[in-house]
Amino acid sequence: VRRPIIAGNWKMYKTARETVEFFEQFKPLVKISHHCDIVIAAPFTVLVDAVKAAEGSNIAIAAQDLFWEAEGAYTGEISPLMLVDVGCRYTLVGHSERRQLFGETNQNVNKKIKAALSVNLTPIVCIGEMLEEREANQTQKVIQTQFLEGFAGLTAQAFSRIILAYEPVWAIGTGRTATPEIAGEVHEYIRGLADASFGQPGARNLRILYGGSVKPDNIKGLMAQAHVDGALVGGASLNADSFGSIVNF
Ligand code: PGA
Repeated sequence: VRRPIIAGNWKMYKTARETVEFFEQFKPLVKISHHCDIVIAAPFTVLVDAVKAAEGSNIAIAAQDLFWEAEGAYTGEISPLMLVDVGCRYTLVGHSERRQLFGETNQNVNKKIKAALSVNLTPIVCIGEMLEEREANQTQKVIQTQFLEGFAGLTAQAFSRIILAYEPVWAIGTGRTATPEIAGEVHEYIRGLADASFGQPGARNLRILYGGSVKPDNIKGLMAQAHVDGALVGGASLNADSFGSIVNF
């Protein structure tokens, strides 16, 4: 039995004050929610505030990205250890916005995964196809390449510490959620890839989140799919009430 994870991705939203306000409203809503792990990926500038606000609760804090070097002359970058230092336990890696807008490649994703694992940060690795790729029947091929290149050189032991998020790019921020059937089908395919590369029990234990326009009114249907183990929620995680109802699906 895989423990579900509901993760929020705040993207480039929220000041320190807004972060504190969010947690004041959100914490009471999920205080007795023990059926899943709860994670919030906040901007770098409010990680300290988020960790402090979440103290003593069942909510873990994630970064949205990291650099792979331990330290050095890398202006503007944040190292894995810096994230651990402020109390992060997870980090997103390879979000489609990083891939599309900031030139993130599967090779970079691979280095970031290894760097995160080296300091015991849990990577939530995002993969997913674009609309043109789905329409050209390339979904499985794209997912396979992202998977094989992203996870190249990992041992089965290292792979067992990773969380995957399937986020079809056409569903992100568009209000156009994948149907539970589409999500379920791709998740099953991903689990097969995990089995082929890393075997059991890794593939069976791998938690695969769905992301892309997850809302309070579609979370139940998605979670009912056998291979959907949670959600990565963008827009609907910014509001305490809506994210609270998604957590309490
Ligand atoms: P969305 O974003 O829920 O706003 O579609 C999901 C994501 O980008 O992780």
